[in-house]
Amino acid sequence: MTQIVLTAFEETLFRKIASAAEKLEVPAYAIGGFVRDKILSRKTKDIDIVCVGDGIALAHEVASLFKPKPKVNFFKNYGTAQIKLPEIELEFVGARKESYERGSRNPNVETGTLEDDQNRRDFTINAMAISLNQQDFGALLDPFDGLLDIKDKIIRTPLAPAQTFSDDPLRMMRAIRFATQLQFHIEVSCFESIKAQADRINIISKERIADELNKIMMAPKPSVGLDLLFRSGLLAKFLPQLTALAGTEYVDNKGHKDNFYHTIQVVDNIAPHTNNLWLRWAALLHDIGKAPTKKFEPGHGWTFHGHEVISGRLVPKVFAQLKLPLHDPMQYVKKIIELHHRPVSLTKENITDSAIRRLLFDAGDDIDDLMTLCEADITSKNKEKVVRYLENFEMVRERLKEVEEKDRIRNWQPPISGEEIMETFGLSPSREVGNIKTAIREAILDGIIPNEYEAARNYMIEVAEKLSIRRF
Ligand code: CTP
Repeated sequence: MTQIVLTAFEETLFRKIASAAEKLEVPAYAIGGFVRDKILSRKTKDIDIVCVGDGIALAHEVASLFKPKPKVNFFKNYGTAQIKLPEIELEFVGARKESYERGSRNPNVETGTLEDDQNRRDFTINAMAISLNQQDFGALLDPFDGLLDIKDKIIRTPLAPAQTFSDDPLRMMRAIRFATQLQFHIEVSCFESIKAQADRINIISKERIADELNKIMMAPKPSVGLDLLFRSGLLAKFLPQLTALAGTEYVDNKGHKDNFYHTIQVVDNIAPHTNNLWLRWAALLHDIGKAPTKKFEPGHGWTFHGHEVISGRLVPKVFAQLKLPLHDPMQYVKKIIELHHRPVSLTKENITDSAIRRLLFDAGDDIDDLMTLCEADITSKNKEKVVRYLENFEMVRERLKEVEEKDRIRNWQPPISGEEIMETFGLSPSREVGNIKTAIREAILDGIIPNEYEAARNYMIEVAEKLSIRRF
């Protein structure tokens, strides 16, 4: 029997749990993600403890062994209890016969043996347990060869896949998420079963789907999961705007690139440069407007005119449909996407200071993120082209720096406020005030006047005169 080598901290903690379990005469085990991650040498933030008996009673007994005694949070209906230690969180539950479904609305689960509990878990690598009982303390209890699957890098269900996935369809997403995070393969029959049951994902809440999707997005190579989601048919169920980009169409022997595969490459490209989930989302959605704007123009070829604006417009819909946060992150993603062609067009013309100032003004503090997306958007296979595009963006970055140092446009507020305009001309809040304010801002961005108070005040008076507004 394989013996798990514990750290000194784990040994002390588990011995405490073992002595509490012995006192209550309930066999106890560490199980699930902790065991998997321990074998994989991954960090964990919680440990699930399953016992053949009352999990809440065990939690109370364990808590009484600590000084000071930690609080036990428990949920009677679910038979679960939680202790937050400074180093780690412990979750206690009694072994179950029914499918293991966290947060399930149906708490009527039959109590069972350790084997029953392991049978009902999602994957062999998540069904392993470590004994916390005196007679075999530290032994690995691995009825489905999870250890071997870790070695072979395989995601496999303990029971027939159809049953495991039908018990909890979120597991289809979890299979793909683990394959992406751990760089494992999903066993063929397991993947076939996901394909066959993809429809059942519809009964899962959008929040839980988005949670898994976000974990895929935060993996070092998200394209692995995004491709599996696409090929399994799952992605089309909750993000049809993205699958609409898949495929290449030909007219007069002219094709366009497959924008779905381009997109997931862009997400991979951006991953090493940012751990900001929402910038990765901007990469994921940056081209969704290409499906509705696609046109074949004879003599010209395929066009996607204005796709960045349409992509931006679709962002609130996608966020709402996946129940993603609708305020700051959504606005940020929308803005970055709407602006993602501006730096590209700056590489194609003689860059004027005014164009640079406008981009700085519109992007504000998100300018660096915008440039990071533009660089990640280069997916050409032609190495020379890639080098040229990157050099062009480097040039834009330098110009942005120069103009910013000179004019300080980032997060800039024009030097004349609306209040000052109202006071000077005795106006109440009105369209006229807005017009004067806009005229001053535009004049500064266009370089007609410098970004200084005196110049702006004189210009204000000039504009007001043209509009026949008299000073108060
Ligand atoms: N589990 C399951 N089916 C689910 C969710 C969870 O069988 N739909 C089981 C698995 O045995 C899993 C354990 O419950 O290992 C704990 O679940 P959870 O904390 O959600 O995930 P972890 O496996 O710990 O992984 P992570 O922390 O990366 O989410």
